[in-house]
Amino acid sequence: MFRRVCRKRLMMQFPETGCHHNRRSHSRLQYLEAVIHEVLRMSSLIPFSVSHFVTQDIELGGYVLPKGMTLQACSVICHEDPSYWPNPHKFNPSRFLDDNGKFVPKKEGFLPFGIGRRQCLGESLARMELFIFSAALLQNFTFSPAPSKEIDLSPETVPFAQFSKLQDIVITIRK
Ligand code: HEM
Repeated sequence: MFRRVCRKRLMMQFPETGCHHNRRSHSRLQYLEAVIHEVLRMSSLIPFSVSHFVTQDIELGGYVLPKGMTLQACSVICHEDPSYWPNPHKFNPSRFLDDNGKFVPKKEGFLPFGIGRRQCLGESLARMELFIFSAALLQNFTFSPAPSKEIDLSPETVPFAQFSKLQDIVITIRK
């Protein structure tokens, strides 16, 4: 369903296939931006940050964290916390849209690129690539499950990352 809505909005704004997307199309494709954010939230691609060390004794949320202790931020816990995301296991891009359908970059509880001074250095490049690739793919191809198969959205967990499972998907060129 979300794929259809994305495609419909892309078609309305960029009727021809083969369009090249860039920063300007970005501001016009708010729904696609919301879909990408919801994918980043639900997939928690990098569920743990790299290891950090506490440099001095501190108290945080009632816990004493001693100097030298190893810490890792865990995005998946935040991304599945119902106090940030009602019904967290439901894929719902409208979490990132306001009442007028305008994209709202929600920050609280959203940590796909980590947090703090050592958060992902490639965040803006990754965001731009995700946007350009997704727009081009959705505009030029139709994606469907293979006959009599369903798409499994549960993650394949490998050390330090969660990927999508290998599965059969039919990709048709859009005429
Ligand atoms: C969807 C794509 C990506 C995701 C979800 C992602 C996520 C992350 C996360 C969670 C961290 C750990 C942050 C922390 O410890 O708090 C990280 C670190 C890092 N990422 Fe990414 N990343 C992505 C793409 C990229 C790209 C495209 C580049 C470079 C071109 C990049 C470069 C880095 C570097 C250099 C660090 C280490 C930063 C440091 O320790 O100071 N990442 N990334």
